[in-house]
Formats: sequence, C-alpha cells, structure tokens
Amino acid sequence: MTDAFSAASIAAPMIPRVARVVKRKREIEDVVTLEIEGGAFDFAPGQFNMLTAFGVGEAAISVSGDPADSARLIHTIRAVGAVSRALTELHVGEPIGLRGPFGRGWPMAEAEGRDVIVVAGGLGLAPLRPALYRLFAEREKYGRILLLFGARSPADILFRDELEAWRGRLDIEVEATVDHARGDWRGNVGVVTTLLSRAQFDAANALAMLCGPEIMMRFVANALLERGVAQERVYLSMERNMKCAIGFCGHCQFGPVFICRDGPVFPYSQLRGLIAKKEI
Ligand SMILES: Cc1cc2nc3c(=O)[nH]c(=O)nc-3n(C[C@H](O)[C@H](O)[C@H](O)COP(=O)(O)OP(=O)(O)OC[C@H]3O[C@@H](n4cnc5c(N)ncnc54)[C@H](O)[C@@H]3O)c2cc1C
Ligand code: FES
Repeated sequence: MTDAFSAASIAAPMIPRVARVVKRKREIEDVVTLEIEGGAFDFAPGQFNMLTAFGVGEAAISVSGDPADSARLIHTIRAVGAVSRALTELHVGEPIGLRGPFGRGWPMAEAEGRDVIVVAGGLGLAPLRPALYRLFAEREKYGRILLLFGARSPADILFRDELEAWRGRLDIEVEATVDHARGDWRGNVGVVTTLLSRAQFDAANALAMLCGPEIMMRFVANALLERGVAQERVYLSMERNMKCAIGFCGHCQFGPVFICRDGPVFPYSQLRGLIAKKEI
C-alpha cells in the first residue's frame, strides 16, 4: 500500500458528497425534517450521517426515516446553533453535504423474542423512528411493544400524526406525556418516568431503547433497573459534538469510548459509571 493510497483511504469517508434537498417539512417550531436525494442509501436504525451546510459547517444528524425505504433519506433537525440552524433553513433544490452512515445503531436482532420498551424524550423520537418502523414492519418477531413519549408541552410533540396513527393500532401500546400544559390538553402531564411506572411488560425478558436528554435517559434507565430489566438490555443513544465521525480525532471521546465509532447506541451497563459525571 502506497502512502498516497492510504492517505486517500483515510480521507474518503471524510469527504462529503453533494446531495440535494428534495423535501422540507417544518415539524414543530424549531424542528425541520429534510428529505435528501442521493441515490439508494442503506442504513441501520440508530445510525447517523454528517450533514454539511456549505459555508457554515457540519453536524451529526441521525437518520429518521424508514430503513426499508432506501430511496428516501430523511433527517429531522432541531436548530440549536449555527450549523443546525443553517441546515433547517435549507430549501428544496439546495445542495447539502452528506457523509455516512456512521456508528452502531439499535440492537434490533437482540430485541427479537423480547418485550421492547421504547422511551423517547422530545427530539429523541427522531433517532428512534427507524427502529419503530422496523419493529412495526416485523411485528411478529417481538413480544409486547411499548412506546412511551415525553415532550415539554403539547406544541413540542414531534411526529404527532404518526404518534396518533400508531396509538390506533391494537398490537402496540403508545403513551404520551407533557411536562406542562394549558387547559385544552386532555392527555398525561408529568415526566416520562410516570408512564413507565404504569407500563406492563415482562422485565426479565425485556429490552429497552432510550433516546432524549441525558438526564431523562438516566432517570428512565434507573427506573427500568428498579423494575428488574437487566442493565445490559437497556440501550441509550448518546450525543457529543463530533468532527471526523470515524474514530480518528477523539472529539467525541466519552471516558474510554468514542461515541462515533463505538456508539452512538450503548448498553447502560457500559455507560452507567460515566453518565452521571457532568464533566465527561
Ligand atoms: C450521533 C448523534 C446524532 C445526532 N442526531 C441528531 C438529530 O437527529 N437531530 C438533531 O437536531 N441533532 C442531532 N444531533 C445533535 C447535533 O449534532 C447538534 O445539535 C449539532 O451538532 C449542533 O451544532 P450547531 O453548530 O448547530 O450548534 P453549536 O453551536 O455547536 O451548539 C449549540 C448548542 O448545542 C450544544 N450542542 C452542540 N452539539 C451537541 C451535541 N452533539 N450534543 C449535545 N449538545 C450539543 C452546545 O453545547 C450548545 O449549547 C446528534 C448528535 C450526535 C452526536
Ligand atoms: S468524532 Fe472524531 S473520534 Fe469521534
């Protein structure tokens, strides 16, 4: 192998290809879903791409579409800073940089034959949506499926139409709650752990997938452990600022692991000692 060849192989996954936005939908106030054309694109539920807003920068964004539909590449983005805001402001026809997919996603094979508890907080529903599409498409492979979703307020409920459609199915249980609401909200009020305390599942055989703010995931993970779910079967998707996304730069280091290469999905047993430490 020549030096030039090895340098090129290292650089290849770092070079974004130029794709185009083909659809744009505002989901809630600060969240936009973009559909990107870029040819057939296979990914596993829970994987992410690095998206570039040209002239501004690059950000890690999970794929939020259906893994069975490789022709439609979908991401759901919250504007929190310069890059994510520029991505949410892209319009149909404009170019976007794309590299990926990266990372290890949700443990779909391990979930087979088990009760599956999916707990999402806010935008955390986006990285979980591909796993939900897979669970629903292959419904017969799993035991009970519970989706517990928490948002700050009714106006912050993501993918509301889909949540309502899923709630209408008889073969899955969907519960939503909001932290606070005005008088016209008729649903649950309280943090997502309140839904968990009422949920029925076989703890000895269950597997959980959690995505949302770290504090929420920590509380939910501990509540699941108290119910008897094994910490090896409680999976969390972690977010840290990323640069290379391929395990070279160390930017996403979290204790002994790199989130981009070893995650972003990890079993709680691997993170438990680290996740409580704010400085990591
Ligand atoms: C694996 C992975 C998947 C992700 N999936 C999505 C997704 O599907 N949709 C989405 O909207 N965002 C997702 N993110 C987060 C997204 O990458 C960041 O919001 C984005 O990089 C922020 O960049 P910025 O320039 O807009 O903001 P910055 O100017 O970099 O930061 C703005 C604010 O956000 C905080 N912040 C920045 N990046 C992160 C981060 N990664 N984790 C926690 N806080 C951060 C900063 O501390 C600051 O308070 C994901 C991140 C990772 C690592
Ligand atoms: S982002 Fe570079 S090592 Fe993870």
